[in-house]
Amino acid sequence: MVRHDVKNIALADKGRLRMEWASRYMPVLNSIKKRFAKERPHKGIRIAACLHVTTETGNLMETLKIGGADVRLTASNPLSTQDDLAAALVKHYGIPVFAIKGEDHATYYKHIHSALDHKPHITMDDGADLVNIIHTKRTERLADIIAGTEETTTGVIRLKAMARHGVLRYPIIAVNDAKTKHLFDNRYGTGQSTLDGILRATNVLLAGLNFVIAGYGWCGRGLAMRAQGAGARVVVTEVDPLKGIEAVMDGYDVLPMAEAARIGDVFVTVTGNKTVIGRPHFLKMKDGAIVANSGHFNVEIDIPALEEMAKSKRRIREFVDEYVLRDGRRIHLLGEGRLINLAAAEGHPAMVMDMSFANQSLSVVHIVKHGRKLEKAVYPVPPAIDAEIARMKLATMGIKIDRLTADQKKYLAAWQEGT
Ligand SMILES: NC(=O)c1ccc[n+]([C@@H]2O[C@H](COP(=O)([O-])OP(=O)(O)OC[C@H]3O[C@@H](n4cnc5c(N)ncnc54)[C@H](O)[C@@H]3O)[C@@H](O)[C@H]2O)c1
Repeated sequence: MVRHDVKNIALADKGRLRMEWASRYMPVLNSIKKRFAKERPHKGIRIAACLHVTTETGNLMETLKIGGADVRLTASNPLSTQDDLAAALVKHYGIPVFAIKGEDHATYYKHIHSALDHKPHITMDDGADLVNIIHTKRTERLADIIAGTEETTTGVIRLKAMARHGVLRYPIIAVNDAKTKHLFDNRYGTGQSTLDGILRATNVLLAGLNFVIAGYGWCGRGLAMRAQGAGARVVVTEVDPLKGIEAVMDGYDVLPMAEAARIGDVFVTVTGNKTVIGRPHFLKMKDGAIVANSGHFNVEIDIPALEEMAKSKRRIREFVDEYVLRDGRRIHLLGEGRLINLAAAEGHPAMVMDMSFANQSLSVVHIVKHGRKLEKAVYPVPPAIDAEIARMKLATMGIKIDRLTADQKKYLAAWQEGT
């Protein structure tokens, strides 16, 4: 068997069935698999991937392998691994995986190092942890690397900061910024799966609850839409005035967190920022408030402050920690403040990851062909790839759209015609 560190290899058959199920909802990726089987565009390329180890990621790993790549997978979050899928990739697909759900900090980083021992030509990140370790602790790896890809907003922000400070040592394709990624994955994927995580963790009835969302970006607006659809009264908190206006005009209440803290029943952070909910807010929350995060890192909720304020703590349900404050109020923290959709549920549905991972697959083709000519900068996914994925997705959904006539094309490219 290939090298691995997974929880239990005996879970492999269950993981394979779940991976097959996800594959049914990934028609774009499946057509890329067929193309890769013929063309083998990644032959001889070693890839280290640091992604949420889910059934959709399993299908991406298989796609890259079919394309000829030698792939290794590690987790991009200690709580997001599906142990059965990790076992399936090792046993049934011959893909080395280093990931265990609930692994501690040291194991998480040991696994990242195991992925880097593979001497990758390409890194595939979700949150930039591979890039970070390569730039700080494993600089000897830089010699082999052609380029990398980045899956999420938080990673792209970090990488753009590295490029601005002149410390980024190899080019990165910002997969998150492709329209066929963030407009769908962040919005509809996070919107639905975050609710799924909260429901699986708590089984609360959303109808009638005050549902506070911090951050009205792509993830926040998807979540607001879905929470409202479930009957919750949505309150948005923001720091960007433009997003504030959008949230108001989309029909939500907009308040500072200091005020929202008093009325919220459920709080979810999706900002990519730190300490968005902290001590001053916990002091005002109702007894029984539920607090969760769906942003990339577990820093959006000030958990150390909550730990300090609590006189006791117990795990009351699998993904719910009950903190009892000194005045007796109970605050319920979900999934240890880690992405709740991956901690307590299964992450985004395959139907939306189909487009995100089609972007990853085709970005790797682009890197293999052109990566050596790229600067040490953060690049968008080539627009032609984005447009091709949108066309493919529509076609697989059986939906047809109109085409511009020659006359319309001419009109749109001209300036002479007026009223
Ligand atoms: N859970 C998942 O599966 C998943 C999926 C995609 C992205 N993400 C992560 O979710 C986070 C948000 O991603 P996005 O694409 O929506 O980003 P975005 O940049 O579109 O939106 C973030 C929003 O948060 C706002 N914000 C920042 N600080 C704030 C504060 N202190 N209070 C209130 N609002 C604040 C910003 O103004 C912005 O509008 C990122 O960390 C991203 O990596 C998670």
